[in-house]
Amino acid sequence: MSFCFNFDVHAQTTNPDDVAGNELQKGKNDCTAKSIKDNTKQAEPVKEAKEHLPPSDPQLILTDAVSETVTIGTLPPLHFLNETVFEKTVSEREDGEEILSRTTEQRSDLISGVYEGGLKVWECTYDLLELIEKDGETFGGKAVLDLGCGAGLLGILALKRGARQVHFQDYNSTVIEQLTVPNVILNCQEDDADSEDDKEGSGKGKIPEEEDCKRKAKEDLKEGNPPPKKKAVDPPQHPLLARCHFFSGDWSAFLNLVLKKDLPPKYDIIFTSETIYNTAYYPALHEALHKLLAADGLVYIATKSHYFGVGGGLHLFETYVEERGVFSVDHLWDSEEGLQRHIVVLRFK
Ligand SMILES: C[S@@+](CC[C@H](N)C(=O)[O-])C[C@H]1O[C@@H](n2cnc3c(N)ncnc32)[C@H](O)[C@@H]1O
Repeated sequence: MSFCFNFDVHAQTTNPDDVAGNELQKGKNDCTAKSIKDNTKQAEPVKEAKEHLPPSDPQLILTDAVSETVTIGTLPPLHFLNETVFEKTVSEREDGEEILSRTTEQRSDLISGVYEGGLKVWECTYDLLELIEKDGETFGGKAVLDLGCGAGLLGILALKRGARQVHFQDYNSTVIEQLTVPNVILNCQEDDADSEDDKEGSGKGKIPEEEDCKRKAKEDLKEGNPPPKKKAVDPPQHPLLARCHFFSGDWSAFLNLVLKKDLPPKYDIIFTSETIYNTAYYPALHEALHKLLAADGLVYIATKSHYFGVGGGLHLFETYVEERGVFSVDHLWDSEEGLQRHIVVLRFK
């Protein structure tokens, strides 16, 4: 089954009832679109939150991995597992939540309250990556949350560009374990390869101790000393992986979980891409943003104007935010053609 964005439709409506439960129209590539189940009225109980530790043997989860790479301008290349792998290997995978089997059986990109779409990379993630590339944000020393991360490309970019700490959250534990964590590990390997090449000026994302080691190795080499043997990095202790935390669960449960920590996080940057499609989730989402954003922090939201089949979208979310009176909303980018897509930034008033 080929990759396609199933909200990629050309007409717009403001009445979700017009389209609830309908098959989505075919995307631009004429690939077979899956449907979106409008189960918002039969919402399942709030999904418990959980913190996931990186596996003790990260290489194992990359066995037979089929990855692809996105390269945007001057951004570091970002690697991620190809979504078709999940469909092809569903019977061999741990699927306690049964989302792999259900999404494949129902040919559905999103089953509200069950599977929230995290197994593929959604279109607006690429918009936000492009904006970051143009704006030159470097993330140095920042605490970043990729909220509703799915594949986690936004968080991974922040990590590779020097964020001090990156937290990844997805509704589904299967997504975190089988996609987000493997993707971070894939990109850690890439980072090692960069270090070996040691390109001048490619220091983004490296912590100072790493830079010191590399400088020392270079000096030794100049003085005719043999290069030190490359020290095997214990993968869970990989410097990039060590800066990450992974969480699954509903936003309200996630918020409760992190607020219980000895040092509850405050994030300088929160990314959230294609997460405002369901108005029923707005209170939990707004509360999480409100409680977790640092005083001078920024929330980047990448979204479509309207999500057919589920009914939410930017206008409804902006109205919700304005009514709460906590954040101001500024448009950073609005697409000029096709289905309307946007990037907005929220900051405390
Ligand atoms: C359509 S996917 C987008 C994934 C990714 N951000 C991207 O752009 O590729 C929506 C994501 O929002 C998150 N999400 C949606 N509703 C949620 C909820 N009520 N609680 C927690 N996470 C939720 C899920 O984790 C899901 O991966």
